[in-house]
Amino acid sequence: MSSLRITILGAGPIGSTLGRKWAKAGHRLAFGVQNPSSERAQALRQDLGEQVFIGSPAEALTKGDIVVLALAGQAVEGLITTYAQQLDGKIIIDAANRYPPDQKFSQTHQWPTTPLYSAHLLQTHAPHAQVYRAFNTYSWQNLADPDYQGIQADMFYCGPDGDAMATVEQLIAEIGLQPVRLGDLDQIDVVDSVLRLWGTLAIVQGKGRDNVAFKVLTR
Ligand SMILES: NC(=O)c1ccc[n+]([C@@H]2O[C@H](COP(=O)([O-])OP(=O)(O)OC[C@H]3O[C@@H](n4cnc5c(N)ncnc54)[C@H](OP(=O)(O)O)[C@@H]3O)[C@@H](O)[C@H]2O)c1
Repeated sequence: MSSLRITILGAGPIGSTLGRKWAKAGHRLAFGVQNPSSERAQALRQDLGEQVFIGSPAEALTKGDIVVLALAGQAVEGLITTYAQQLDGKIIIDAANRYPPDQKFSQTHQWPTTPLYSAHLLQTHAPHAQVYRAFNTYSWQNLADPDYQGIQADMFYCGPDGDAMATVEQLIAEIGLQPVRLGDLDQIDVVDSVLRLWGTLAIVQGKGRDNVAFKVLTR
């Protein structure tokens, strides 16, 4: 399998969990963060070595053909408008949930009325990008360990079919998850409804952030 050039914007729990696994799979990683000399960024550098780039979003965006949005939800819109040109034409995987200030579901147990995804913003500002929605419906703990007593959790995602879809499925599989495509980007609300189900079970019912994931049964 050939090595991919991946830019991850955000090196928090989600970005760093994905990046660690993809670096191990042999891909070339560039992280774009606010503060490349933060303790968090330095810990990542120590883990992954000098071959991983950690810098500003502008620098990191020059180094990837695939861009993963894994930054704080409130920063996403500004980032998309500022770097629209660099995002255009790329494969973009939106893993960010754009909770309004003080409205994280884990704190309020209420879903905001505004969308958590950024597909509409990306389509406006980077119209030639191939946009996917994935990795936003589970916690980082599920991504770190997607094995449930020998059963591989499913990752529901959406986005266009074709070559880019095969790449996205490869990246999902390398995290240890089984990709389940729900359709094109018009199915984005269905993907985000998986987050609602997850939140109800893991957070409201208290089953725990590491303990809930989904598997489709078919026959
Ligand atoms: N945590 C989870 O389990 C989980 C699950 C599903 C989805 N998500 C979503 O994934 C996204 C990331 O969450 P997280 O918990 O991993 O991270 P987080 O703690 O929200 O950290 C955000 C990351 O974004 C960077 N960042 C913030 N503002 C930025 C800006 N203006 N430009 C560039 N980078 C910026 C930060 O850089 P610095 O380190 O330099 O400050 C940091 O690396 C969020 O949208 C969240 O809703 C999280």
